[in-house]
Formats: sequence, C-alpha cells, structure tokens
Amino acid sequence: MTTHHRSASEWQRRGAFYQIYPRSFADADGDGIGDIAGIRARLDHIASLGVDGIWINPWYASPMRDGGYDVTDHRAIHPDLGTIDDARALFDDANQLGLRVLVDLVPNHTSDEHPWFVSALQAGPGSPEGTRYHFRRGRGSSGELPPSNWQSAFGGPAWTAVGDGEWYLHLFDASQPDLNWADPTLEQEFASIVRFWIELGASGFRVDAVQGLSKDSSYPDWTESGPAHTVEGTDVHPYRDRTANHEIVRSWRRTLGEHADGDVALIGEVVVRPWERLADYLADDEFHQVFNFDFLECPWDPGQLRSRIAAALDAATSRGALPTWVWSNHDIVRAATRFGLPMDVDPAQWLLDGDRALLDPQRGLLRARAAALLAMALPGSYFLYQGEELGLPEVHDLPLHCLLDPIFERSGRASKGRDGCRVPLPWTRCGRSFGFGPGGAWLPQPSGWGRHSVEAQHGDPSSTLELFRRSLALRSELLDHDDFEWIEFPGAIAFERREVVSITNFSPGTIELPAGDLLVASEPCTDGTLPPDVTAWLRTS
Ligand code: NOJ
Repeated sequence: MTTHHRSASEWQRRGAFYQIYPRSFADADGDGIGDIAGIRARLDHIASLGVDGIWINPWYASPMRDGGYDVTDHRAIHPDLGTIDDARALFDDANQLGLRVLVDLVPNHTSDEHPWFVSALQAGPGSPEGTRYHFRRGRGSSGELPPSNWQSAFGGPAWTAVGDGEWYLHLFDASQPDLNWADPTLEQEFASIVRFWIELGASGFRVDAVQGLSKDSSYPDWTESGPAHTVEGTDVHPYRDRTANHEIVRSWRRTLGEHADGDVALIGEVVVRPWERLADYLADDEFHQVFNFDFLECPWDPGQLRSRIAAALDAATSRGALPTWVWSNHDIVRAATRFGLPMDVDPAQWLLDGDRALLDPQRGLLRARAAALLAMALPGSYFLYQGEELGLPEVHDLPLHCLLDPIFERSGRASKGRDGCRVPLPWTRCGRSFGFGPGGAWLPQPSGWGRHSVEAQHGDPSSTLELFRRSLALRSELLDHDDFEWIEFPGAIAFERREVVSITNFSPGTIELPAGDLLVASEPCTDGTLPPDVTAWLRTS
C-alpha cells in the first residue's frame, strides 16, 4: 500500500484515542454525575492504556435533552461537570501525561434554549436573528401542516410549529433546532468558538453531524430510497452531503491553520455513504480523518469485514489520509453484546423486545476482544469508547422509566435508545456506585457490575483490561507506520504490517498459526493453533 504524506501529524493519522462520555466516567463530587474533576482523578487509568489522546463528548452548558448535544453556550462547561478552569486544568494534566484532548464541536444545531434561538423566536420571521435557523411557513391554508415531509433522525417529523403557521427545522430532537449555515455570521461565530478551545488547550475537534449542515433552501419533500445514509450524486439530497458542506469544513480548517503550527486535529462525524463521496471530506483542506461507520456497523462476518476494511483503506489513502477504526461509541449497542447476538438480529431492536435467550454473552466478549485486536492492528487511528477496555456489555434491561434518550419517546417507544451503553463505569468491585463516585449513579448500574471493574481486572493477565494494555503498547511500538499487505488465509482475516502479522479466526474450528513468535492473542493459543473467534499477532522476523 502506498500513501502520499501530507501535513497531518502522525498522532492524528495513527493515534489511539480514548472516548470519554463525561457524565458516566467518574464522579468526584458525589452528585451521581461524572465530572471533570473525576476525569482528572482517573487520568492515570487512561495513561495506563498507552493511548495518545482523549475525545470528550460535549461537556457544555446544556439542558441535556440529548446527552449534551443540545448546547446553550459553546464556551461554558455544564455546571454539573465543572468550570472552564477545570477544563483548562484537565488539558494541562493530560498534556503532562502525553495525552492530547479533542473536544466535541456541535455545529449543526443548538439547544432551543440557546440565546440565538430564544432571540430568533422573539424577533420573528424575516429578522436577522431568525435567519440563523430554518424557519418556514407551513403548508395548508393557515400553515397548519409541516413545510415538508422531512423526518427527524430520532423519529417523527423534522419540523415543529411555533405558532402563526411558522415552523422550525430540527433533524434531531425538537429541542435541537438546526442552524442555517447560509447565514454568514455562523462562520465567524464558530471560528471564534474553535479559537477559544484551542487557546484553552484543546488539541483538536471531533465535529458532530457534518452530513446535514447544508440544506436545500426550497425544502422539497424527500423520501429515502436505497440503504439509509447512502447518497449518490451531487446535491441530490436536500439535507445530506450537499456541496456547500465542504466550504463550511474548509472554514474550520482555515481557523485551525492559524494555531500551533497547524497541529490541531479535525475529525469529522460525517454519516455519508458510499466511501467515494465520504472521501471528498478528506481533501487536503478539510478533515484529517472521518469516522468509519461501515466498519462500526459491520456484523461479525469475514467477507463483509474484509471488503469494508479494503474499501476504507483504498478511499482514505487515495486522499493521503488513513481511516479510523472504531467498534463502539455512545450511540451504539456495546460490542460485547452486539457480537453475542445472531447476525440476523438488529441489536437496537433486540434491546426493546428481543428474546433474551438469543444473547450469548461469552461469545460476545470473545469476539469483542478479537475484534479490538483486529481494529488496533489496522493502519489508521483507533478509538476506544470508555468501558470497552473492560469488555463491558450493554445494560439491556434498564427500566423504561429510567430512559433519557430522546429516541425512546420520539420513536413512539419503538426503540429503547442509547442509554444502555452510557451506564456509569465500575471502578471497584463493591461500593455504592462501584467506585464511580461517592454518591449513586445517574443511570442504574446492574448488580454484579463490579466484576467488570478496573479493580477486578487490574493485574489479571487474562482480563480484558490487561489485554488492551498489552496490545496498545505493542501497537505503538510496532505498528506506527502505514505499511499493509493482505495475507490470503482461508477462514481468517490476516494481514502483514512489516514484521507483524495479525490473524483473526472466523471459522468454526481451530486453524494453524502462521510461522512466527506470538506477540499477543485475544485468548490463549496452545500448540501453535488459533481457536475460533480469536485474534493473534505474530512477529515474523
Ligand atoms: C451524533 C452524536 O454522536 C449523537 O449522540 C447525537 O445525538 C447526534 N449526533 C445529534 O447531535
């Protein structure tokens, strides 16, 4: 594989990053909600994993209707989590440990309690304040019908009425009005927000929901055909992957270029398919990297996995970039549960009403461990969502009255939503919230949660935690380059990265390991054989 090099620093291209969902990581003040002081107190855990950086989900002032992706002040920390001084101190502490910190930038929408939206409502249609959002007169004789048939990603219509026949657009929850990026003041506002966080100490940004930034200002009806999120052609879709998105991304990249030798990372959440279109966002003056949803959503199937890995590598390297490899985040059923379900079962649907007997948790964990080693061995950056290093399962039995994700109500209770992967982490075997904090936990932790804790796994060579520590250390020592060659191996996915071979057994029986010294394996390998659902790394010279 050949890559052409460009300005992006190596840590952005090939780093390993730990994703923190701050409410659920560690709680220092005992109010049951994770906070920045909790993160600072637990940085040693993250450093012990040998990662290069941290991505922190939104920690801004917010009424928390969508886990903080509903921002009321992009320059203020939510009081539950701390203060701007705490954020600065976290950047400093993390940097001391060699960890860079990426923050989340949420440019597609704000909270409906953001002062911009409040003043837009007051100023009314046609006002300068109003043009920051998408207001539109409804259909029907008195505007009583939504202006178009667009649907919210969380279910239900994407328009909410504000009276007098006027409506506003929200591609997500009704509490998240979409910003109108055709308004030129937004570019300056976000440039200033980006500068604010860089000056405070952030090393980069994960940017939310980029696919939907630009909208067709005639708001035509649209009915999805073909697989979700697939866009073919330019400006066909009225609110996904429109050409104007690229100019917006370039404006952030220009702002980044003003700072720190340009060594600030820009990583896009751009839900666009196919890769040929997604890769356009990796142009030299746009994102350094984009998240790889084809991989994240791939079932445990070697044929599909191999072709999705190959497509990602081809597309990213054709732009001089490398892919990101991610198995879990705060939006998807945890890997150890997903991989424990039969392939024809939709994990998100199963959470609500699926047959519990279909879940094989041992197999799920086995595969999640093998999957982690496979992803870590690929060229590019690797993101690990908090708790994955403990092999945490999804908490699938959260009582309905505890659910906070807006998806639950907006889907008409047809989907439980994403709370089950956001349950506060267990740090100790016992204690009121298993060491999460001195108080309780904002989402109930299951009994027995402590057996997954850091305390229970630390020092146990067979634990998932020690497997992650070992393999991430080897990754930074031996895999810090771009070389990659497939190896044909029936029943397996195998490839070579200079002197390291990674092989994952997808067949039902054991297979013979290729020649070489075993560096690490996701389960013990005896007599030179690789058991099913196991990944091994070998050194061949
Ligand atoms: C993607 C984020 O990851 C998700 O958590 C959020 O609900 C939506 N964007 C809307 O901001």
